Amino acid sequence: MNFDEIRDRSGIDSSKWGRMEEFSGVSPTDGIAMWVADMDFGCAPAIREAVRREAEHGFFGYFGDPSSVSEAISGWMTDRHGWAVDPKWISYSTGVVAGFGQVLEAYTERGDGVVLFSPVYHAFFYKLQAMGREIVQSELVNNDGRYEMDLDALEDLVTDRVKAVVLCSPHNPGGRLWEAEEISALADFCVKHDLILISDEIHMDLVFPDSKHVPTAIAAPRAKDRLVTLTAASKGFNIAGGETGFIIAEDEEIRKRLEPVQKYMSGPPNRFGMIMVRAALTSGGDWSDAVRAYLKDNFDLWREHIEGIPGVRVMDMKSTYLTWIDFSRTGLLPGQTSDRIRKDAKIAMSPGAQFGMGGDHFHRFNIAMPRPLLIEAIERMERAFGDLQ
Ligand SMILES: Cc1ncc(COP(=O)(O)O)c(C=O)c1O
Repeated sequence: MNFDEIRDRSGIDSSKWGRMEEFSGVSPTDGIAMWVADMDFGCAPAIREAVRREAEHGFFGYFGDPSSVSEAISGWMTDRHGWAVDPKWISYSTGVVAGFGQVLEAYTERGDGVVLFSPVYHAFFYKLQAMGREIVQSELVNNDGRYEMDLDALEDLVTDRVKAVVLCSPHNPGGRLWEAEEISALADFCVKHDLILISDEIHMDLVFPDSKHVPTAIAAPRAKDRLVTLTAASKGFNIAGGETGFIIAEDEEIRKRLEPVQKYMSGPPNRFGMIMVRAALTSGGDWSDAVRAYLKDNFDLWREHIEGIPGVRVMDMKSTYLTWIDFSRTGLLPGQTSDRIRKDAKIAMSPGAQFGMGGDHFHRFNIAMPRPLLIEAIERMERAFGDLQ
């Protein structure tokens, strides 16, 4: 577990490094990739060992009975998150965004509205647009560097055509952990307006060591007949290429409604993804503890230095590695800050406008990288904004 080691990811089909020039104009030769949400660390030894065993037997046919994977998920959720998930509540999708599409298909129609608390993970927007759903943006209130939901304002946006609400918990970008009371208030809102609550908890295993993620199912038992949790081991264990998401629904009626949709939108689970998930959740606990401690130290270092740039503020976070930086007080326009970051610092980040309303003056930076590389990124940022007073 030497997270400090810089390993070259060129030539191994990495989206984050191999496609950065195409998407941001920053060359991987002398640039630093801080955009796509994966980590520049090799995954847990137990996962590599499981994949090695798989490669050696050489039979890559359809995956068999998923129950050992569901047991592993159930055990992990109980031990790590205090959430006693019955294995029969779990089904699989080729990732969380694919699962999101299935829930939308089951519960909404073209033209129906779906609420997003923006700024939020951009793929929700793309999926909703692609499926012809109306995006209802409820802008988070930035209360002195802490995002809060404004459910009073949301009352005015909810019409009869609005059918679902998406909670991103922990929140991306910015890494906020929602408190039980906030989740519970949102659940009450969903009950009042008869809305499906879709809780994306993909970042649940990236919580800093001194903090705790509260699963929506625990905070809001009243909403269990309208709650679908979408999650995965992909972010916490850096195995996103395994394309395996979990759809968890305690309510039997929900599972019955999802089943036919899954039959036509999904196939059997990905063999390699399932094998990686099982290894991660049964034998990856120590690695998870170590990586989360390392990420917190990265965040503290990054924040201390980046906030030294006049007018720049780093949103406090307790989870994820997706830092959210507010450039609004620099006196620069969003295009000017992104030019400095991409062209001068040669850093590929994610422009804030991608995340919807409220994101314009921000940019998102992924800090899941070996510390020596992070220090290089800090120095580049300090130079690129060195003239600010
Ligand atoms: C909140 C959130 N949901 C979903 C995803 C993507 O999940 P998947 O690759 O399983 O579709 C991401 C990736 O960054 C994310 O941040």
